[in-house]
Amino acid sequence: MVERIVIITGANSGIGKAATLKFATEGYTVIMACRNIEISKIVQKEIIEASKNEKVELMELDVSSFNSIRKFCSEYKNRYPKLDILIHNAAYMNHGEKIYQLSPENIELTFATNTFGPFLMTNLLLDYLAKSEDPRILNACTTNIKHFFDPKRKIDFDNLHGEFKESRPYSVYKMYGDSKMALLMLTFKMANEFKNSGIKVNALQINGVRMSKETIKKLRSFWKVIATIQNVYFPPPAEMANNYFHICTSDEFKNATGQLINHKREMIQPPKGDKDNLVERVKQIFGSSCYPRYATETDNIEKIWEISTQLTKN
Ligand SMILES: NC(=O)c1ccc[n+]([C@@H]2O[C@H](COP(=O)([O-])OP(=O)(O)OC[C@H]3O[C@@H](n4cnc5c(N)ncnc54)[C@H](OP(=O)(O)O)[C@@H]3O)[C@@H](O)[C@H]2O)c1
Repeated sequence: MVERIVIITGANSGIGKAATLKFATEGYTVIMACRNIEISKIVQKEIIEASKNEKVELMELDVSSFNSIRKFCSEYKNRYPKLDILIHNAAYMNHGEKIYQLSPENIELTFATNTFGPFLMTNLLLDYLAKSEDPRILNACTTNIKHFFDPKRKIDFDNLHGEFKESRPYSVYKMYGDSKMALLMLTFKMANEFKNSGIKVNALQINGVRMSKETIKKLRSFWKVIATIQNVYFPPPAEMANNYFHICTSDEFKNATGQLINHKREMIQPPKGDKDNLVERVKQIFGSSCYPRYATETDNIEKIWEISTQLTKN
C-alpha cells in the first residue's frame, strides 16, 4: 500500500485509542497527537504490539493551546511529506466542572479545545492535506447538539472569554454542546471553502460509547453516576472507531463533504417540517435522522467563522 498518514488527536483513550488501533491494523501510518506523553507512550506500545505496525508515532499536542498547535504542525511538516486524514477527536468534556476555565490564549477551555483548536490546526495543515490524493477531515460531534431543537437555545458568542462569568450560570455541559455545534457549523463552511482543493470535511454525530474509567473520573458527581449507568448499555469505543475508519477511507464517502453523518453512517439533514410543531420536535429529539436548523442558519455560520478567524489569525 502507498503510505497513507492519519493524525488522530486525543489518541490515548476511548474512541481515539480504538481508532488508532484500527488504522494501524489496516497498515496506515498513525500520528497519535496527545497531550499526556507519559500515558500515551504506554498506549502507543500497546497498539504497536497489537497491530504489528511500527508506524504508530506519538507527537505532543495540547489542542487547547494555539502555541502547542503551531509547534505540532511545524514539527509534523518537518517530518512528513503530506497528510491524508485528519481526525479531530480530542475534546474537553468535564461535565459538572464549576470553575470557568480559560485556555492559554484566554479562551473558554471547552471552546478552545473543541472548536478553535481544531479550526487553527486544520488551517495550518491545509497545504499538507492538499498534497494527498484523497484528503479527508473528520470532526467528532455529538447528539448533545439536539438541545438546539429548542428554538431558545443559542451559543453565547459574547461570553467566550469569561466576559459574563460572574453574572451568567456556567455549565461545561452547555459549553460542550455549544462548542460542538460551532464545530459542526465550521464543518459546513470549511467544506465549501475547501471544495476547489479537493479536501473533504465531514462531522460524525456520536450518540454514545462506553467511557473510560479515566474520563469518568474527570466528571463531577451527578455526571459520574450518569456515565456509569450509560456504560452498561453503550457499545465499546471500537464501534465508533470503525465509523471513523469507514468515513475516512471508504469509496462510499469518497466524495462526501459538508455532511453530518450519524452513528448508522447515514448522512443527516436539518428538519423539513414545521419547526414549531411539537410532535415534529419530539420526533427529532428521539430520532437520529436530522439535526437542528440552527446549524444551517447563515448568520450563525458566518459569526463562528469570523470569530474563529479573528482569534487564530496571529
Ligand atoms: N463517549 C461518548 O459517549 C461520546 C458521545 C458523543 C461524542 N463523543 C466525542 O467523541 C470524542 C472522543 O470521546 P471519548 O469518549 O473517546 O473520550 P475520552 O476517552 O475522554 O478521550 C478524549 C481524548 O481527548 C484528549 N484531550 C482532551 N483535551 C485535550 C487537549 N487539550 N489536547 C489534547 N488532547 C486532549 C484526552 O487526553 P488526556 O488524556 O490528555 O485528557 C483523551 O485522549 C470526543 O470528541 C467526544 O466529544 C463521545
